[in-house]
Amino acid sequence: MKNEFKYIIHHTGDTKKDTAKAKAMFPMTCARDARKFHSHIPGYHMTPLVALPNLAHLLGIGGIYVKNESKRLRMNSFKVMGGSYAVYRLIKQILGREDEDLTFEYLTSPECHAALGDVVFCSATDGNHGRGLAWVCNKLGLPCKIYVHSETSQPRIDAIASFGAEVTVVNGNYDDAVRQAAEDAKANGWYVVSDTSWPGYEKIPTWIMQGYNSIMLEVQEQFSGLGIVKPTHVFVQAGVGAMAASVVGFYSAIFPDDPPVFVVVEPDKAPCIYESIAAGDGQCHSVKGDLDTIMAGLACGDPSPIAFEILKDNADIFIQVPDNVAARGMRILGCPLSGDPMVISGESGAVPLGTLFALLTDEISADLKAALKLDEDSTVFFVNTEGNTDPIEFRRILWDGKNPTPARFRVKE
Ligand SMILES: Cc1ncc(COP(=O)(O)O)c(C=O)c1O
Repeated sequence: MKNEFKYIIHHTGDTKKDTAKAKAMFPMTCARDARKFHSHIPGYHMTPLVALPNLAHLLGIGGIYVKNESKRLRMNSFKVMGGSYAVYRLIKQILGREDEDLTFEYLTSPECHAALGDVVFCSATDGNHGRGLAWVCNKLGLPCKIYVHSETSQPRIDAIASFGAEVTVVNGNYDDAVRQAAEDAKANGWYVVSDTSWPGYEKIPTWIMQGYNSIMLEVQEQFSGLGIVKPTHVFVQAGVGAMAASVVGFYSAIFPDDPPVFVVVEPDKAPCIYESIAAGDGQCHSVKGDLDTIMAGLACGDPSPIAFEILKDNADIFIQVPDNVAARGMRILGCPLSGDPMVISGESGAVPLGTLFALLTDEISADLKAALKLDEDSTVFFVNTEGNTDPIEFRRILWDGKNPTPARFRVKE
């Protein structure tokens, strides 16, 4: 029985891609600046790049490498890397000190706070970005207001509030929370630190994406320690697309002539990047509805336009998958083959691996197989973007078998 995932083969590898926007948005100087800032945050250390050699062997590919962001600054997610760097850049802008390096210590000082005056940072979130922003504001001693949508789980809300942020629950979905946060910020003079962009609001989401590049610098350092120049394949998950664009843009900028094959994965209940590519007019298109996927971090109906530009020009394959693919990814990572390390991964973190696994174990169409070009020489990379961010759901999926793999795709004899 053929797998029925919907996919688009956007670039086939036959045509040269236009990497100009990726090079402009993700210069190495910026990635290094972000890395320098992050490395001064108390408690900072590189997250592990984990190899899963036995799983790679089972699947008939050369290697699988997971950047495990569940270990990021005890935050359980990569998101803090974007929000913290954007706050840093914003503070430098407010102070008129863009050309200087400011230390984390200075940012927490009474002198800095006096110079800043009454600033409030705010954002909407589907959980992880708000938590990261609340965390950095808490560390810096600056006020923070976070907007969540009505389907946000209580553990996610509690995690944000535990860092002293004021949490407002907005009726509707993530995109409604984004609009409400922007409206309230305008009325009150707060600074919006949003991970998604919209026309006229691009600078801060760009800083956020550049902040994620700090993770990619770590990855490349870790790969070079293993004698690997770059992965041949990158599977990356997308909500508004900022994270995916930062990974795809980073590699496209440094390897413009020989980039990895990029596969962008979204939930089938919130495939806004996929639908925008499918429309074929080069514009962003929204997906409406309550976006009720278990992949909470990817439950976004409006793409980030600046991220979409990067993905449109550089990503190769777009694919949308059902929730059970993410659940299987969580179970594979959490209960690995003998000899492979365990990786605790949440719904949004595990979907790239779940997708890779499905594509290599289920029957797929010949054109998709040819475009993927996965074989025993392939080195596949993905980011486990979150750990156990919703413990109740995590137990339901791993312990109780929630969102089971459909019978016809289960492990065969
Ligand atoms: C765990 C996790 N993974 C991936 C993403 C996707 O990031 P983006 O919205 O930038 O596409 C998010 C977004 O919140 C997330 O929380």
